[in-house]
Amino acid sequence: MVPVVDLSRRGRSAAGEFAATVTRIVESGSRLLGEETAAFEREFAVWLEPVRSPRLQPLEVVAVSSGASALQLALAAVGVGAGDEVIVPAFTAVPTAAAVCALGATPVPVDVEAGTANLDNALVAAATTPRTKAVVVVHLYGRPAERPDTDLPVIDDAAQAHGAIRDHRAADIVAYSFYPTKNLGGIGDGGAVVTADADIADRVRRLRVHGMTAMYVHTEISQNFRMSEIEAAWLRLGLPLLNADNDRRRQIAARYRAAAPDARWQTIHVDHVYHLCVLRSAERARVRDAFAAAGVATAIHYPLALTQQPGYWKFRAAPCPQAEAWAAECLSLPCFPELTDAEIEHVAGALAAVPT
Ligand SMILES: Cc1ncc(COP(=O)(O)O)c(C=O)c1O
Repeated sequence: MVPVVDLSRRGRSAAGEFAATVTRIVESGSRLLGEETAAFEREFAVWLEPVRSPRLQPLEVVAVSSGASALQLALAAVGVGAGDEVIVPAFTAVPTAAAVCALGATPVPVDVEAGTANLDNALVAAATTPRTKAVVVVHLYGRPAERPDTDLPVIDDAAQAHGAIRDHRAADIVAYSFYPTKNLGGIGDGGAVVTADADIADRVRRLRVHGMTAMYVHTEISQNFRMSEIEAAWLRLGLPLLNADNDRRRQIAARYRAAAPDARWQTIHVDHVYHLCVLRSAERARVRDAFAAAGVATAIHYPLALTQQPGYWKFRAAPCPQAEAWAAECLSLPCFPELTDAEIEHVAGALAAVPT
């Protein structure tokens, strides 16, 4: 069976170098937010913005404990708190909305576009109320989302989109996840907040460590969102491979699209980084069975829209038919850099043979 994702392949090729790094860190006594984390923050800033005017300071990268914490801290840094509303796409990974709830604020699900699966920006104005404090756009599956036309702070949820955002300075705050399956995947959980605004970055750095400004002096109430040195070291090993990994993902998606040009693919974008390669099918159960019979594993990201999640029913506002249609029809195909050429051709053959 061709798997949807298989982390053991990268694990095997990286294990030797990582073991040496782990030994060095263990012997150093540094555990959290040390030199490895600082080096990763610098290197990720350069990767995100390889060409920078010398007049500009590097982007600020604050490494944190997960993508969900990156979102939560980004929202906190723009002042979101109890009683506020935050617009979120109705079709996303649930942590997008959970981060809003963690601050005591209310996520307001707004429908997505039929083609891109990203927030339908035409609906943002109608969903905005005097209590709305921010909008979260999600670059779902790695496909860049447009920034909505709003005066509110916009947080980019780029958990699935390392490499899909060209200009981080045009964004307010971008939140990344390094969950192990992501395009830049960690050895455990991890995330990063990225901004060009030094004040926002300082605030996130404080909030990352219990709101502490000097040793055991806490000027704000917060919790622990630290990154471990082992996580940072693993991410530093993966970062130099990320451009080639993203190119490989694009090649895989292009091959699949060529094999089934009439399938209902997520609409194309030149900067798509294909965290997931997704098509839609009104007969998903039949198509999944046919792929499985052909030796191709598939997955569903995600089976329920936010408006359909039992824990989030209370936040339903306007109907979100496109989000619910995506949830009913989406199907993820095998897509990760270590797929062999033979496996890619195998999936392409199944795509050509199975009507979707
Ligand atoms: C779109 C999106 N947002 C947020 C998250 C949360 O990231 P993490 O699992 O690192 O907390 C994820 C990943 O699970 C995601 O895919």
